[in-house]
Amino acid sequence: MVPAFSDQLVRWQKSHGRHGLPWQNTRDPYRVWLSEIMLQQTQVTTVLDYYTRFLQRFPALADLAAADGDDVLGLWSGLGYYSRARNLHRCAQDVVRLHSGQFPQTAAWLQTLPGIGPSTAAAIASFCFSERVAILDGNVKRVLTRVAAFSGDLASSTQERALWGIATELLPRRKLLEDMPRYTQAIMDLGATICTTRQPACLLCPVQTLCRGFASGTPENFPVKTRKLKRSAMALSLLWAERADGAVWLERRPAPGIWGGLYCFPVFGSEEDLLAALPASLQDRLAAVPPFVHVLTHKDLRLSPMRLALSAREAKVDRLPGDGAWVAREVWTGLGLPAPVRKLLG
Ligand code: ADE
Repeated sequence: MVPAFSDQLVRWQKSHGRHGLPWQNTRDPYRVWLSEIMLQQTQVTTVLDYYTRFLQRFPALADLAAADGDDVLGLWSGLGYYSRARNLHRCAQDVVRLHSGQFPQTAAWLQTLPGIGPSTAAAIASFCFSERVAILDGNVKRVLTRVAAFSGDLASSTQERALWGIATELLPRRKLLEDMPRYTQAIMDLGATICTTRQPACLLCPVQTLCRGFASGTPENFPVKTRKLKRSAMALSLLWAERADGAVWLERRPAPGIWGGLYCFPVFGSEEDLLAALPASLQDRLAAVPPFVHVLTHKDLRLSPMRLALSAREAKVDRLPGDGAWVAREVWTGLGLPAPVRKLLG
């Protein structure tokens, strides 16, 4: 099973895998690293535009390292999971400062950098340096638990390590220079296009005959889920104050916590708290916007915006409560804003 698995995947990638993505056909670790960080929690179709814009603005690692943190967050705005952007910036600075501007060439070293976990390190090392190391992101976990009919609970670190062992066993052993990057791409592509969560296309799968999950008749039962993630919910009221000239009142969010480091409407725990923060003359002017739910990884946010539209004559309201400021349209369009705030602003 072992050599056949990687051989068949490599062959399949050549004819059926994805080839035209802008971070492929390069071994430049800066480009590969940037794509892997963007792709960690975001779909390929969303990443494409961001990736191009990012590279236009920061064509080389040194440009990113020298950038202002706010500019990096601004370019990231809308991609979500903003700790990725903060770590990206720190990582670029560390590579310049600690590694003379050159990315380390092994997964073990790459993992010492901010934002680069074991799987991302393996992706970069295998794509750029053909190192024989296994990636294990969500898609690959699904592929391998099916192939091996692996029934351990992946919430347990012992079980995850066991699956990592299987992943390493299955890697190519020959022609590593050429085959490691292609194998890594192949297993990603298989997870994205064939071995999907629901209704996997087993009839088109290049490793169907080797797959124990397929043999079991119910491959979609892998990976086995035991512990359920608890989701929580939270209700927030947002003060959406906008002047006739397009300026918006924004505050910077405190670093640990929801939307840390981003620029946001003032956030209150309830509508009463929001009202209490405003002078009576403005309270009457608020208009409720229909509430909506914004889904974060572990939390559902029920957001209730209250809109305060100030006419040109009232633009003399030069301060609202709190630490915010009026931010001109030309400025806020380039800032890092939470996705729901950006959506409201249109
Ligand atoms: N997801 C993570 N890395 C990827 C890559 N290199 N190509 C496509 N999807 C990915």
